[in-house]
Amino acid sequence: MTTFTELRYVAEASATRLLGRTFSLIGKLDTTTDPYPLYERMRAKGPLYKERTGQWVTTSHALANSVLRDRRFGVRKTDGELPGMSPAARDATGTFYDSFLEQDPPDHTRLRRLAAPAFSPRRIDGYRARVEELVDQLLTRRDFDLIADFAAPLPIAVISTLLGIPDEDTAEFAEHGKVVGATLDGPTSLAQVRALRKTTADLDALFTRLIERRRHDPGEDVISDLVQAEGDGKINTHELVATCGLLLIAGFETTVNLIGNGTAALLRHPDQFALLRADPDLAPAVVEEVLRFDPPVQLTARVAHEDVDLAGHRVRRDEEVYVVIAAANRDPEVYPGPDRFDLARERKPEHLAFSSGIHYCLGATLARMEGEVVFRALARLPRLRQAGTASYRASTVIRGFASFPVSRS
Ligand code: HEM
Repeated sequence: MTTFTELRYVAEASATRLLGRTFSLIGKLDTTTDPYPLYERMRAKGPLYKERTGQWVTTSHALANSVLRDRRFGVRKTDGELPGMSPAARDATGTFYDSFLEQDPPDHTRLRRLAAPAFSPRRIDGYRARVEELVDQLLTRRDFDLIADFAAPLPIAVISTLLGIPDEDTAEFAEHGKVVGATLDGPTSLAQVRALRKTTADLDALFTRLIERRRHDPGEDVISDLVQAEGDGKINTHELVATCGLLLIAGFETTVNLIGNGTAALLRHPDQFALLRADPDLAPAVVEEVLRFDPPVQLTARVAHEDVDLAGHRVRRDEEVYVVIAAANRDPEVYPGPDRFDLARERKPEHLAFSSGIHYCLGATLARMEGEVVFRALARLPRLRQAGTASYRASTVIRGFASFPVSRS
């Protein structure tokens, strides 16, 4: 890739951000400050409205759920391209955008089916003891940063185990995960594009090496399962590498924020923390309420594959609908007192933190298990408290802390 294309990618991303910030509510989204008042401004515009920048937006739980389940919508435009993906962006991001999260049926169906057995409840339960051990190892210090010392290393270790990343590669793997995570919203500088390009190439090489090793020496891990499928002609090598990349990012960028946002919610709602301490079996309820109240993935989008009549509007073919998960999760039509963090609340309908329909999070069982083990462990720390200023990471799609100092004394 030339410097020109790299610069073009940065310029495009900046222009899109600027245009969005100026002309749309969705473009003003900044999860480093409290985004929930902005979601209420969106809700006031009705269950479905169109931004001046052309995208439709829904904050309604019912409508969001139905768009995500509606087969007339997909993730690609009818010309097969991803919305907003220019040739410059595609060059820099390489393999990542070919994962099955970014595919429509029939490719999505075929690839997801191959990865799914590794995430079955039985397989995930097999990792519980390892997660408990990791949590105990990570929770020994008196003063620590909740994110850097606990919430981030745990899912990284778990996904490394799942993928069978050898110990000597784990640190490099974690570094790459950070680079990709930092550019999920589009790059802000030439340096970032270059770092992303290098990381993409290094990760490609790392996975290719690992795949090669598993061809000769299969183990009990996701990559071995996929290599077997490759041998049977069900997936090609490019798709295999893209699937590994998806699992890496999904494993790195989400569970960390379930743990961070959840611990923050408990510390900010001491009455609810007291309930958990009195009854650690409430840990699964903490997971579900955090996912509803302050979800790690705040929004997603779908593209209409044909003209669709929706909530009194006509969404034209190839137009995008932004599904604001975090707003749908506080829809007063389905959740009474939606701004209350309440472990006792009725769990129906399910929140949309894991999306809905065919792209429903494949790692949901794993994330729920990790969250449950963590919140059970926190229930045993009677004096846990915030011990300094917390900061949010800069992102619009992902909501979570960059840093959160805590002390258990
Ligand atoms: C609390 C933690 C997590 C949250 C909030 C979360 C959220 C999501 C969401 C919202 C989607 C769908 C996006 C869309 O519909 O456009 C998704 C998809 C996905 N997630 Fe997760 N995720 C979490 C953890 C994980 C973990 C730990 C893994 C695996 C290591 C994982 C693997 C995946 C995969 C493979 C997909 C793509 C599914 C498909 O396209 O069919 N996730 N996740």
